Amino acid sequence: MPKFISIQKKIEQFKKKTISVPGDKSLSIRFVLLSSISKGKCTAYNLLKSDDVLSAIKNIKKLGIKVILKKSRCEIYGKGLFGYKYKRNLILDAGNSGTTARLLCSALIDAHYPIKIVGDKSLIKRDMSRIIKPLESFGVKLKNNNGKLPIFIKGTKFTTPIKYIENLGSAQCKSAVMIAALKTFGTTKIKSLPSRNHTELMFKNVLKVPIKLKYQKKYDLIEVEGKNEIKPFNYKIPGDISSAAFFIVLTLLSKNSKLTLKDININPSRIGIIKILNIMGAKIKLLNKKNYKGEMIGDIHVESTKNLKAIKLNSSLNSSVIDEFLLVFLVASRCEGVSSFEKLSELNQKESKRLDWGIKILKMMDIKVMKTKNQGIKIWGNKNPSPQKNYKIKNYLKDHRIFMLSAIAALSFGGNWRIYNPDSFKTSFPNFVKTLRSLGAKIK
Ligand code: S3P
Repeated sequence: MPKFISIQKKIEQFKKKTISVPGDKSLSIRFVLLSSISKGKCTAYNLLKSDDVLSAIKNIKKLGIKVILKKSRCEIYGKGLFGYKYKRNLILDAGNSGTTARLLCSALIDAHYPIKIVGDKSLIKRDMSRIIKPLESFGVKLKNNNGKLPIFIKGTKFTTPIKYIENLGSAQCKSAVMIAALKTFGTTKIKSLPSRNHTELMFKNVLKVPIKLKYQKKYDLIEVEGKNEIKPFNYKIPGDISSAAFFIVLTLLSKNSKLTLKDININPSRIGIIKILNIMGAKIKLLNKKNYKGEMIGDIHVESTKNLKAIKLNSSLNSSVIDEFLLVFLVASRCEGVSSFEKLSELNQKESKRLDWGIKILKMMDIKVMKTKNQGIKIWGNKNPSPQKNYKIKNYLKDHRIFMLSAIAALSFGGNWRIYNPDSFKTSFPNFVKTLRSLGAKIK
């Protein structure tokens, strides 16, 4: 494996190309974990085969679940709600995946022996207290390292339902509580700030779990009734908007280019990036929309846009663009005027401190950027940058989204870029570089 990739040239225009991106990561991990506690054979089509999803699969296998991973489909043979085979001294490794670590812990609340959950260099820095606290209220013991991994989880048969207020806008916290609720007799009640609602939609439309959902002005109310076996299910996973977003922004910022992305999950709780870019003057269209088991699927059409406008954004869309914010910053840096964003502290809770990294990369590119009092940032855009410099992106904890953002910055701004850890994109988007090359990108 080479040490870095190098990009020394902007991408040439690409006209009327159609591409697809791999399956949605959130839905793929949910499929793996939820099918493992269903009763029977579940099949997923277009499952994302990235490192994060493979970590989830490895772990359910260690829990005695049979998995057959084929080219076009993945079969998982669930053994029921309480069907995991717990062994003494079991160590489960969530790798780089926060979703796997947090959702897996909640699936283990009936573990007979203490199970150790570990993760890679990035994951062990991340806050786990946000799921440890609610899981402990179910009656489970989680020994941990000051709210971080490794966690030792010792379950119990006698969990009790909880009332939980989710105040971070975190789908992982909400989903962890919902999964623990499945293994708990009685009704768990959740009041949650809006965040991606895939778990709710899967419970309701796919697993047919007794669930009540009420969307209110500020909070979503969710009630899950536990201890009902889940029947086996099949699921066709749509393309990941978080992966599509890199190509949407590349097209927007390139000259005379057009791109269509096929069969993408355009669930309203995920398309903050499209809403924001359209407010900034992009004309991104959502076409051929259809409903699939509660999820909205469609094609995304995007064209290069010359006169993008700066934006002053409050925090109401933050959770729907949480993984795409760095791309929004990149676009803001190419607009006329000053853009501002607020309440971004959650960005520093990701695979790397993404808010800090966003600022660092923009500053490297001579873009004026400043942190604001309300944990936000201001970006002074420059419509016609002429970067001639050498840029090195290194020591970013192999954060896949920092790698991919840097590649898009290089291809749309120019300059001479070296991006280290060239395998980091495999966490979420294994054919990222191949797809860029198919559009004409010169990457060495
Ligand atoms: C995810 C939720 C988000 C997101 C992550 C995937 C999920 O995290 O950043 O990449 O699948 O539920 P938070 O819920 O912690 O914000």
